[in-house]
Amino acid sequence: MADGTRQAGGVAVIGSGGIGGYLAGALERVGRDVTLCVRTPFDRLVVTDASGEREVPVRIVADPGAVGPADWVLVTTKAQDTAGAEPWFRSLVGPGTRVVVIQNGVGQAERARPHLPAGAPVLPAIIYCSVERTAPGRIAHHGGTRMTVPAGADGAAFAELFSGTPFEITQEADFVTVAWRKLLSNAVVNPVTALTLRRIVVFNDPAIRELGRGLMDEVIRVANAEGARLTDEDAARILDGYTRMPADGGSSMLYDRLAGRPLEHAHLTGAVVAAAERHGIAVPLNRAILALAGAASGQGLAGDR
Ligand SMILES: NC(=O)c1ccc[n+]([C@@H]2O[C@H](COP(=O)([O-])OP(=O)(O)OC[C@H]3O[C@@H](n4cnc5c(N)ncnc54)[C@H](OP(=O)(O)O)[C@@H]3O)[C@@H](O)[C@H]2O)c1
Repeated sequence: MADGTRQAGGVAVIGSGGIGGYLAGALERVGRDVTLCVRTPFDRLVVTDASGEREVPVRIVADPGAVGPADWVLVTTKAQDTAGAEPWFRSLVGPGTRVVVIQNGVGQAERARPHLPAGAPVLPAIIYCSVERTAPGRIAHHGGTRMTVPAGADGAAFAELFSGTPFEITQEADFVTVAWRKLLSNAVVNPVTALTLRRIVVFNDPAIRELGRGLMDEVIRVANAEGARLTDEDAARILDGYTRMPADGGSSMLYDRLAGRPLEHAHLTGAVVAAAERHGIAVPLNRAILALAGAASGQGLAGDR
């Protein structure tokens, strides 16, 4: 460990969706002491990946009053649910606890900090991993085992925590660019699939590719005003990547829309629009997407009866 004294163990994972369930399984498999902190209780965590199906013997807790301070707290709720995790933070975060916010979007640490004890170390993490919760406690991994964290002592300790797992942890000095590059993709693939109710194959449609490119051009201007270093090549590479992905691939926002759950749009496209406003940059396409996603969030046709 970076400070030479702590043991990598005592990990609390807040959120038992695709990401939280999969990370809990990966850490338990290499002997970490994992507690899964859930909102909706269930009995068993079962993870399916390339190596098969496995029941993961982690502790599953639904009552924040039933846990004490952990060495590590991994926040894997959707971005809009970060504040709602505050009761968990009150129990889990003590002196020496490191908090890692593993979410899409930007400003992960800033989002959590107002809900944490003053001075608690909090690290943002970007995850590259396609994983789906198919039922409560049932997690299906489709591919990808990479995370990026800011370079530094906490980032090094986080990499050590995941040693022995399939996860490759990159420690990055220019984390702003990493986060915005992921958002460049998420601000396009998520709302476009969710709003069209189409899988990734929708990007084979030339008009949708053109829309995607227009959205990305706006995001790049905003990202670079925020200090990231994105180029047209990033956009071209991401759009080309969509056409090489399995045609039946989707996005977490598509799955959330199909299930009538709230969408993460305010922290993806909404983050682009908010930053654009700060810099006086016009982003009409992203504004239109934000309005449509806002109207669709958590709604099905039944909502209009
Ligand atoms: N899934 C992917 O492939 C993927 C890939 C890259 C990045 N990401 C990002 O990773 C983050 C997590 O995504 P996800 O797909 O894992 O989301 P998810 O499947 O919707 O899971 C989120 C989990 O958080 C739980 N939660 C919400 N509030 C809570 C609270 N107060 N206490 C305890 N648990 C709480 C939810 O509980 P309920 O069971 O009650 O709903 C749910 O189990 C998002 O920012 C997403 O954009 C996801």
